[in-house]
Amino acid sequence: MGNVTVIGAQWGDEGKGKVIDWLADRADVVVRFQGGNNAGHTIVVGNTEYRFSLLPSGVAQGKLSVIGNGVVVDPWSLLDEIARVQGQGLAITPQVLALADAAALVLPLHRDLDAAREARAGAGKIGTTGRGIGPAYEDKVGRRAIRFCDLGDPAALETKIERLLAHHQPLRRGLDLPEVTAEAVLSQLEEIAPRVLPFVQPSWRVLDRAAKAGQRVLFEGAQAVMLDVDHGTYPFVTSSNTVAGQAAAGSGVGPRATGYVLGIVKAYTTRVGEGPFPCELKDEIGERIGQRGAEFGTVTGRKRRCGWFDAVLVRQSVAVSGVDGVALTKLDVLDGLETLKICVGYRLGDRILDYLPAGLSDQAAVTPIYEEIEGWSQVTHKARSWRDLPAAAVKYVRRIEELIGAQIALVTTSPDRDDVIMMRDPFRG
Ligand code: GDP
Ligand code: IMO
Ligand code: MG
Repeated sequence: MGNVTVIGAQWGDEGKGKVIDWLADRADVVVRFQGGNNAGHTIVVGNTEYRFSLLPSGVAQGKLSVIGNGVVVDPWSLLDEIARVQGQGLAITPQVLALADAAALVLPLHRDLDAAREARAGAGKIGTTGRGIGPAYEDKVGRRAIRFCDLGDPAALETKIERLLAHHQPLRRGLDLPEVTAEAVLSQLEEIAPRVLPFVQPSWRVLDRAAKAGQRVLFEGAQAVMLDVDHGTYPFVTSSNTVAGQAAAGSGVGPRATGYVLGIVKAYTTRVGEGPFPCELKDEIGERIGQRGAEFGTVTGRKRRCGWFDAVLVRQSVAVSGVDGVALTKLDVLDGLETLKICVGYRLGDRILDYLPAGLSDQAAVTPIYEEIEGWSQVTHKARSWRDLPAAAVKYVRRIEELIGAQIALVTTSPDRDDVIMMRDPFRG
C-alpha cells in the first residue's frame, strides 16, 4: 500500500479537508506542501467543525503533521490557529507538528502589499484572500525571504531584514504605505521566535524517517489546479504550483514517493474571487446550488460563484496533474434538481475547443457546450453505499467519469466525516 497525494482539481474548496481527514485515519503522516493561510479546509466530526488554514488536516486525527518547505507561513496566524484548535480539544505539540526550517515567512508587510495592490487595481483586482501570499512567494523566489531557520540566528537575521526592506521601502512609498523600520520587524520576529521555534526542524528528515520505517504519507494540497500559477487561469490564480508535481518539491521527497494522485472534484463548479468561469450560473439555479451547498468562503466569508459541472476543465486538470482517481464531492447538493447540465466542450468564435486555452481573453470568451442529463428527486444526502444512490445519480457519476477520463474512487454526500462512498481504495492504487 502506498502514499496518496490529494489535490483540488477545480478552483478550490472542493472538500479536500473532509477527504484528507477520512483518509488520514489510515495514514501515519500528513504533509502540506504549498500555499499558506489562504487555504481553508473544513472537517466536521459530530457537532464539532474544525477549520484548518495552515495546520495539516491530519491533526484532527492526531496524526504526525508536517508543514513543508513549499508552504509560506504567517507565524502569527499559525499560533492563532493552534490556540483555536487547542480550544477545540486537539493537542498541537512539537511531537505532532513539524514546521520546515526552510519554509518562508509571511510578514505583516506582505499583507500590507497584498491589500494595497488589490485596492489600487480596482475593478482589475484578483480577489485575493488578502493574506499576503503572493508577495511572500515573490520574496521567496527573489531570494530575500526570511525563513524559519533564520529565527534561530539573530546575527544573520538583521542583515536579512535590511535586504528585505531595501526591496520593500520603495514599493511601500509607491503605494503610500508608511515606512517600516528594521528595528520594528526585528522586534516582531524576536517576539515570535521562541513560540514557533519548538516546532521548527528539517522536515524532509521527518519524511525520510517515515519512508524508511515504511510509514504511509498523505500529501495535502491546497487551492486547486485552475489556481496553479502555471496551469490555472493566469493571472487570476494563486502564487504557487498547486498540481501534484509540487508535492515532492514542496515537502522534500522524490517524485515517486507521492504515490496515488487523488483529485478532489465537486459535483458542480465553484470559484471565489475574480477571473474566468465559463459555466458560471448567474440565475436562481446558481443561487440555489450556493444555498444548498453553503458556498461561502471558509477564509474570507465571501460568497462563492457557482456553476454547472465543467468536464473540459476537470479533464485538463486530470492531465496536467496526473490524477489517478477522483473523489467526487457534494453530490447531495444536486438532490432535487430536475435537469443537470455538464459542459462537454467550449465554443470560441466559430471554433469548438476541448480544452481551456491559456490566454485570458480566450478564457473569458469561451462559451460552454452543454449536455443535459436527468436529475433525481430522491435523497443522496448522507448515503454511504453505491446501492443507496438513485439510478439517475449513478448515471451522472458514470457520465462524469467517462468525460474526465479518470476513475471515481470516492463519492461524498455530506460534510460529516463518515459520509463517504468508497469504490476504490486510493491507498491500494
Ligand atoms: P477545501 O478547501 O477543499 O477543503 O473545501 P472547504 O472546506 O473550503 O469547502 C468545502 C465545504 O463543503 C465545507 O464546508 C465542507 O464541510 C463541505 N462538504 C465537504 N464534502 C461535502 C459533501 O459531500 N456534501 C456537502 N453537502 N458538503 C460537503
Ligand atoms: P482551499 O485550499 C478557493 C483564490 C482567491 C483568489 C486567488 C488568489 O481552501 O481550496 P491568494 O490569496 O492565494 O493570492 O488569492 O486564489 N484562492 C482560493 N480559492 N480556495 C482556496 O483554498 C483558495 N486560496 C486562494 O480567492 O481568487
Ligand atoms: Mg477551502
